[in-house]
This record gives sequence, C-alpha cells and structure tokens, in this order.
Amino acid sequence: MILVSGGGTNLQAFIDAVREGRIDLEIAAVLSDNPTAHGLERARRAGVPAVCVPRADYADRASFDRALGDAIAARQPDIVILAGFMRVLGPELVARFAGRMLNIHPSLLPAYRGLDTHRRALEAGERWHGCTVHFVTEELDGGPCIAQARVPVHPDDTPERLAARVLEQEHRLYPWVAALLASGRLRYADGTAWLDDRPLTAPCTQTSNDRANLDLNLSPDP
Ligand code: GRF
Repeated sequence: MILVSGGGTNLQAFIDAVREGRIDLEIAAVLSDNPTAHGLERARRAGVPAVCVPRADYADRASFDRALGDAIAARQPDIVILAGFMRVLGPELVARFAGRMLNIHPSLLPAYRGLDTHRRALEAGERWHGCTVHFVTEELDGGPCIAQARVPVHPDDTPERLAARVLEQEHRLYPWVAALLASGRLRYADGTAWLDDRPLTAPCTQTSNDRANLDLNLSPDP
C-alpha cells in the first residue's frame, strides 16, 4: 500500500519497478489525503486501486488518523509505504503499523529533518546531500535509518536542481528497500532496523555513481 499527497514520482518508480519485474511486490492500493493528488491518477492509469481519505472531511487529526488507519487495514497490506505523504501521523496510527511502515526523506538523516531540506543543505554549504529511507516511528523523520543515497552538491546548484538529482536517487533506492522489507530480510525490532538478522549500526549506502551495483551497495556499512 502506498500513501501519497502530491505528484507521486516515487509512486511511479514503484509502479515501473513492479511492472518491469525488478522488485517482487504487489501494490495493493494507493491512498491519498488529497483528492487532487496526481499520484491517484498515476495509480488509476496503472490499474491500481486509488483510494482517497480527504483530510478536509475530518474535524481533527485523531478522527482522520482512525479513518486512514481503517482504510489501510481494509486492504490488509504487508507493508505501508509513505511516498510524499505530507501528513504527520499520530502515535496510535504509527503503532498500528509499527515495523511495517517506511518513509523516504530528502536528506541524509539525522541532518535536516522537516521541510525545505535542499535549500537548508545548500545554505549550510554541505558538500553532500541525499535521501534516507527509514522506519516510521512517533518521532517525525526520526525512526531508525535503513538506507541512504548520497549525491554531491555542485557549486552552481539551486534547491530545484539539487532536489531533482536527489529525487532520481530516491526512485532507485526506495522500491529496493521496500522489497527487502516485504521479503522479510529487513525487519524492525527493539527500536532498530535489522538486515539479514544483523542490526544496522549505520544506514546502508548507495552512491549515485555506482548504479550498476545497487544490490551490492545495499549491504550494511562495515
Ligand atoms: C520526495 O522528495 C520525498 O523525499 C518526500 O516527498 C517528496 C515526494 O515526491 N518525502 P513525489 O510525490 O514522490 O514526487
């Protein structure tokens, strides 16, 4: 199950990876809080059920979270993928899908939690930026990190240019990590991410210039 609020390019990466047989996943449905999310249209075009739980229909976050949780549970997904889902989830909803929910964040966490990451990284003069896939916990952008892709920051970068390069890496990294979770190789226990029964002491890494070896790069750092 994939949750989106907007354009859904990460969703599209999942759709393409499944269709081309690069990952072993079935997308049960796409769910959005936003009736006009382009991600819903991408789902329909791909023949995937598209479901909307409009945030505007609910008086408060608790009732929205309950409806969202019920809509997810109704499809009985093994895993839940947040792909540009722009709502902060309350603790009860997070607990309902603990260890089964992933998010991708456009920074090398723990750096730059929250919004506007590309501009902040540029303003700080970072030489490297990137994205992180992590388990979702109650702490916003704070769950255990699983994997990161790094991109160099160029001297003439704008937030938009940098965002586009990071997004390209998100599309490579995220479906792969999700497939690891679905396969059971990746799991969450004791507040930690485990890969092949080893705790991840640092996120797995993928560098932007070594694309052919994505599988090999996605092993725990020594
Ligand atoms: C991505 O930058 C992702 O890291 C963040 O939201 C954005 C979603 O983009 N969580 P898209 O809707 O997948 O194009």
